[in-house]
Amino acid sequence: MELFDTHAHLDFPEFKKDLSEVLERSRKAGIKYIVNVGVDVESSLRSVDLSQKHSWIYASVGVHPHDAQKFDEEIYDLMKKLAEKEKVVAVGEIGLDYYRNFSPENQQKEAFRMQIVLAKELGLPIIIHDRDAHRDVLKIIKEEGAQDVGGIMHCFPGDWKMAKECFDLNFLIGIGGTVTFKKSAALQEVVKRAPTDMIVLETDCPYLSPEPLRGRRNEPANVKYTAKFAAELRGDDLEEFSYRTTLNAKKLFRI
Ligand code: NI
Repeated sequence: MELFDTHAHLDFPEFKKDLSEVLERSRKAGIKYIVNVGVDVESSLRSVDLSQKHSWIYASVGVHPHDAQKFDEEIYDLMKKLAEKEKVVAVGEIGLDYYRNFSPENQQKEAFRMQIVLAKELGLPIIIHDRDAHRDVLKIIKEEGAQDVGGIMHCFPGDWKMAKECFDLNFLIGIGGTVTFKKSAALQEVVKRAPTDMIVLETDCPYLSPEPLRGRRNEPANVKYTAKFAAELRGDDLEEFSYRTTLNAKKLFRI
């Protein structure tokens, strides 16, 4: 089996005690690559650090919409320095979150725009977090020309109509544990209909464990449950689906 977890937060305190065991289980489950995703300056630094310690872990650096109000030119420069490091393969997670609104909307938009500019400057794809903000996310992608670098709509939050818009804008959909939930009919429909080359798999660990582990701490090894569920939904061979989605991620991140 060849799997890729395109969205992990292994630097979060939930993994402090047993990270080496978590990584060992991931290897055993067929996880060949992980991208550890930053949410602020500190976690971006820790992501780079993880990527330097483990040959099969890569890093993404960025400031999450929750922390957008802290984003300024100084942080932009810092992020730029970080993003130039070896094994940093994306800018993210960046975007808009109108569900929690921890930062004011205008500041979220500004930080999102500035980090798209950064990604374009460096030629890196972006990893987008979109919660209850589809219209503005798509609008900003278009206005800033983010389709030039493309990326992933992480934990894909939309329906088939939105999925098609994302594909047209050069964005893949990140599919995680939520696809296994009973109430995820719209997402399951998207996964059924999406071209194989537009899907990547992820965990968002420690959050969003797939069934049958829902509610427990998530970890990269659990991508295997999401892969199995999605492959069955599509009527695809599991090995082939895993291999193809891994290839999509490798291509995007230029690994
Ligand atoms: Ni995340």
